[in-house]
Amino acid sequence: MSMATSKMRSHYSGLVTEALMGQSVSLCGWVNRRRDHGGVIFVDLRDREGYVQIVCDPDRADTFAVAEGVRNEFCVQVKGIVRARPEGTVNDGLKSGKIEVLCHEMIVLNASVTPPFQLDDDNLSETTRLTHRVLDLRRPYMQNNLMLRYRVAMETRKFLDSNGFIDIETPMLTKSTPEGARDYLVPSRVNEGNFFALPQSPQLFKQLLMVAGFDRYYQITKCFRDEDLRADRQPEFTQIDIETSFMGEQEIRDMFQGMISNIFKTVLTTDLGDFPVMAYADTMHRFGSDKPDLRVSLEFTELTDVMASVDFKVFSTPATTPGGRVVGLRVPGGAEMTRGEIDGYTEFVKIYGAKGLAWIKVNEVAKGREGLQSPVVKNLNDEAIAEILLRTGAQNGDIIFFGADKAKVVNDSIGALRLKIGLSPFGKKSGIFTAGWKPLWVVDFPMFEHDEANQRWSAVHHPFTAPKDGHEDWMDTDPGKCIAKAYDMVLNGWELGGGSVRIHQAAVQNKVFSALKIGPDEAQEKFGFLLDALQYGAPPHGGLAFGLDRIVTMMTGAESIRDVIAFPKTQRAQCLLTQAPSPVDEKQLRELHIRLRNPQPE
Ligand code: AMO
Ligand code: AMP
Repeated sequence: MSMATSKMRSHYSGLVTEALMGQSVSLCGWVNRRRDHGGVIFVDLRDREGYVQIVCDPDRADTFAVAEGVRNEFCVQVKGIVRARPEGTVNDGLKSGKIEVLCHEMIVLNASVTPPFQLDDDNLSETTRLTHRVLDLRRPYMQNNLMLRYRVAMETRKFLDSNGFIDIETPMLTKSTPEGARDYLVPSRVNEGNFFALPQSPQLFKQLLMVAGFDRYYQITKCFRDEDLRADRQPEFTQIDIETSFMGEQEIRDMFQGMISNIFKTVLTTDLGDFPVMAYADTMHRFGSDKPDLRVSLEFTELTDVMASVDFKVFSTPATTPGGRVVGLRVPGGAEMTRGEIDGYTEFVKIYGAKGLAWIKVNEVAKGREGLQSPVVKNLNDEAIAEILLRTGAQNGDIIFFGADKAKVVNDSIGALRLKIGLSPFGKKSGIFTAGWKPLWVVDFPMFEHDEANQRWSAVHHPFTAPKDGHEDWMDTDPGKCIAKAYDMVLNGWELGGGSVRIHQAAVQNKVFSALKIGPDEAQEKFGFLLDALQYGAPPHGGLAFGLDRIVTMMTGAESIRDVIAFPKTQRAQCLLTQAPSPVDEKQLRELHIRLRNPQPE
């Protein structure tokens, strides 16, 4: 017996190629499929690297009998010889497609009951997949996703290590950090009535590590946020979390653009190219979003000033109300849209609070008013019409949609419409959408946004973000004018990561707290440890965090972040596999000093 076959497994099934021709191999894996070709049995043996075809001839009676008895998902060991596939049976779609393994011995390592679904069924419901996650994870799709995730994490670590960043762990049982979501709380048994919070991010600890002199920190770590879930959000997710001392905004962006470009290059052999840098004000102006998908070429046309003087309340009221906005969205070639399609879009924008969706079809631009088809042109004067056509650059065959409302409603609804049309079959066919990778940096975020409901200012990023030099002077008088040293990396409409240069002086930090109406006592109670640390020669520092799950979702082309996480939660924040969260017994609650308001029936 050769050395190779003295091992339980000599090779991965998916990696057996013609390089091993004539050699004996010992393979371990799962029966993906068994085909009985009257006299010969074929078994597709699967492991994490792929498949190989096993051939069992009846002249080895014992082996043949075992092969007759195996079923899908049996775990088996196969010993045999690698040989060429017969002429005409080569499968170029498989790494092992030129060869097969002639079986000398097959051993059932463990039988399987019949799986609840076919592993190659591509139409499984997510409930089925998450309930039977172990079998779902066996599927090549999930194996590839998780292996790619690992390679991304490895490339990240290599890059950071070679740039002098060190991995330091921070606590999971901690105090609430204000990243803007609800906390997951953990009751303390030892300290009655007190709670830990699971970290929404390691933000404050990484800043403390900078004050402690560690200089360059990173961690690939879990963060916990109790927020409404969507396709790109999980209650526990993983950040590539980074902080550095003695680097400015530009240097930080350059370094981590390099990191992300390097990951795409090594893992996907793709060049992300240059990252345009856009100010927040410009992205809102042009796309109504701070994470624009630049694969879609459509842009807003500002019309607020034009509409201030028209005699049409739908447009003039928002145009003359502070905080109102009127924009146009020109869609080249859109005049071919049917009434039904336009009605569909009108319903769609209502999800975002729009009250309607005015439109103009441009049949013949040279004819002015006469060349247009629209429910609203009758309400607009000639100057307004001329200005709309001029500013949007309208061409024959276009449609122009209009949003008029509070700026937030216009940005959200027309921003969503921009994507809806861009990503539609029409958008793809008409060249509005260009496939590929479109990264950018969004910079110069405002420090604060006004929270209408509570009549107060809140931090756009988080309250430890530094203002641009000199902008701290506006914090008492005009917080809306303060711009932050903050930046987000956006790729194809997803925020992959974000961060900022931090405040490193207690006096400035206190000013921010006071702008946020966090009084000195509250600041001391919540962030005393940070304010205290800032007094001991805290270095200038900054950093950012990337969503690892999001990066991998984009790279794999998965539809949901759940497809790149081994054991994710559902949209209702439940784990269908383990049935968590679940009730606990009375004794556990008593130890934690907790009494339920509405006890669940036994
Ligand atoms: P932020 O809150 O922007 O910044 O988070 C950083 C990145 O984490 C990802 N992310 C999520 N991914 C999946 N599910 C979620 N619920 C979720 N929430 C966020 C996003 C996001 O860009 N401490 C700061 C970073 C810093 O300032 O250094 C922070 O946490 O990709
Ligand atoms: P109305 O005068 O309300 O019938 O509206 C005339 C047109 O304007 C219709 O096409 C509506 O869909 C559209 N419309 C109404 N409200 C808005 C709005 N806030 N923004 C954009 N279009 C609107």
